[in-house]
Formats: sequence, structure tokens, C-alpha cells
Amino acid sequence: MFSPKKSIVGLDIGSSSVKAVELSRVGKGIEVTGFGQIDLPSDDRDGQINAINTLIKEGGFNPKRVVSSVSGKMVIIRYLSMVPMSEEELRNAIIFEAEKYIPFGLDEGTLDCQKLEDESGGGGNDNVILVAVKNSVIEDHVEILQKAGCTPEIIDVDAIALGNAYEFVQSFCGEDDEDGEKAEVVAFVDVGGSKTCLNIIQNGTSKFTREIYFGGQDFTEAISRRLGLEPEDAEQVKRSGRDDEGQVQDAVFPTIDDLGNEIQLSFDYFENQHGRSPDKIFLSGGGARLACFRESFERIFERPCVVFNPFENLPVSDDIDADLLANGGPGMVIAMGLASRIQKN
Ligand SMILES: Nc1ncnc2c1ncn2[C@@H]1O[C@H](COP(=O)(O)OP(=O)(O)OP(=O)(O)O)[C@@H](O)[C@H]1O
Ligand SMILES: [Mg+2]
Repeated sequence: MFSPKKSIVGLDIGSSSVKAVELSRVGKGIEVTGFGQIDLPSDDRDGQINAINTLIKEGGFNPKRVVSSVSGKMVIIRYLSMVPMSEEELRNAIIFEAEKYIPFGLDEGTLDCQKLEDESGGGGNDNVILVAVKNSVIEDHVEILQKAGCTPEIIDVDAIALGNAYEFVQSFCGEDDEDGEKAEVVAFVDVGGSKTCLNIIQNGTSKFTREIYFGGQDFTEAISRRLGLEPEDAEQVKRSGRDDEGQVQDAVFPTIDDLGNEIQLSFDYFENQHGRSPDKIFLSGGGARLACFRESFERIFERPCVVFNPFENLPVSDDIDADLLANGGPGMVIAMGLASRIQKN
């Protein structure tokens, strides 16, 4: 008899591309059994549905257990310090807290909260994460998935999946990896097409998330303006990585600086709250593939910036091309974080 393989597909539906990562329980362990990415010709619904459908078919993914994510201004994440109370009391209390932060009526949204497993939030308080999402955002997302033939099991949030990817990868690295990274404060920066997700992790626990509405499309627009190119041509120039006269760099530097300034504001806020700034920055997402990006961030932040390949230490099924996986890895971090829910199931 074949042992049944339990798989989960993490499906990251972005503004520029759809990414899928399949993790499966094989024997007593978990391994990567599939991955894929497809560019979106446009971000209209039909384009998204067709792209998901194609990706699922071409990748041979099982669409019956899909974890996907939402993002945007109608997705609110807050880290709160609350007096200690039972889970049930917390669920009641959080409703009053949530009202202060969410830009929609309580009856229009779905709330979730969880105590964080870390040291107390100061003064004996508990650290609690609050997530609120406008119902229509979840409903739209579920409808797209269903029309593409997928059965959504969990709807997560991009920035949280980014942190979960790291926690999942760490679980394969042992308690103390060489750099002692568990004791560090590390920042994850995923640069997409339309937005950048930030997640700051301290002692293995996510402490801060934010979305910043700058991404790869802004780099393309800057190149298009500076070089007088149509957006499609600017996109090609950007992706080619060729920049003989440094014109592309000159075009994108101000936008990278703007993004860097926003992230610095978040680092300052974090330092104010937690007494430390991130020691290291992990980069991911298609936008961070821009030729001068990593170096520019190192110049701005004056600390190590490394490209995060989430598959580096993971067991991988034999039929997966290792080079393709290594090349695609940094673009798949959120999809991997979504699929990592398999560990908790
Ligand atoms: N080789 C490359 N060099 C530079 N930029 C690239 C390269 N490949 C892709 N990109 C850029 O990456 C961006 C898309 O990244 P990604 O697929 O991570 O975004 P997304 O998840 O779809 O978007 P979002 O998270 O904002 O909804 C696009 O702006 C694209 O131009
Ligand atoms: Mg994205």
C-alpha cells in the first residue's frame, strides 16, 4: 500500500504574480513537493482566476487544501499589551480594543487574536496580536479561489505568512544556528509589485508588521519616466539587470530611498518600543531582484542585508530541480509561509 501523502498548497496571489508552494508530510517529516510561479497579465479577477488555474494544473498541485492570504488597507494587525486574562475574557476585551484601530465597522469585519508565546509585555502584561480583516476582502478572495477550482482551508495575511516562513525554516535549523540568530532581532522585507511587507522578529517571535505601498511597479515607473520608455519596455530593462551607463540606478535610487526611509521609521518605532533595532535584514519578493537593491539597502541601513532563500535547509522531494528551486526561493517566501501551516495541523 502507498502511504497517503498529506499536502498543503500555499497560494500567494499578488498584484504581479501568483506563487504556489506545496509542502507534504512524507513519513514522519515534511518536505517540499512542488512550487511554481506565474506572472499576471493584469490584476483583474478573470486574469487572476485563469492564472491560478493554469498554475495549479501545470504544477500538478492538489487544489483541495489551499492556504492563501489577503493584504491591503483593510487588513489590520496590531500588537497590544493587555492585562493577563483568560482566552475567553481576551476575546471579549479585544472587541473594545479593536474599535480604536479598525477603519470599518465591527459588524463588517472578522477579528482574531492570540497571546504571543514570549516574555510578558511589560508590567506583567501579556503580548497579544490582533488581526482584523474586512469581510468583503475575505469573501472576494475566497470567491476567486473557488472559481479557480481551489478549496481554501485557511485565509492568512501576507505579513504574518512572511514571519511564519522564517519560524518554519528555523525549526529545521536546530536550537542555535551558527549565527545564534534566534537571539537576534531580524527584519524581513518582502518587496512585491505594489507593496512591501515588513515583519520584525525578536527571539523567534514576530513583534511588528507593516505594509508599505511601494514596490517593483514604482521602480518600473521611475525607469519609464527617466528613460522615456513605455512601461513594458521599462519592465524589460529593469529585469535584464543591464545598466551600462548607470541610468537605471539613477532612476530607481530615489524610490529605493523612499522605501528605505519608511522602513527606517518602523525600525525607529520598534527600537522605541523594544529597545533594539534589527541586526540584520532578510530580503525577498520579486521587487528585491532589482540589480542594485540589496547593495542599496546595505548602504542605507549599514547592517547586513541578505537575500532569503526559504528552501535552503528544507528537505526537498527528489523530482524537484534544485537550481530552479534555489533561484525561485526568494520569490516564494510568503507562499512558503502559507504552506507552513501544515506543521500546525
Ligand atoms: N529579475 C527581476 N529584476 C527586477 N525586478 C523584478 C525581476 N523579476 C520580477 N521583478 C519585479 O518583481 C515585482 C513582482 O514581485 P512579486 O511577484 O513578489 O509581487 P507580488 O507578490 O505579485 O505583488 P504584491 O505583493 O505587491 O501584491 C514586479 O514589480 C516585477 O517587475
Ligand atoms: Mg507579494
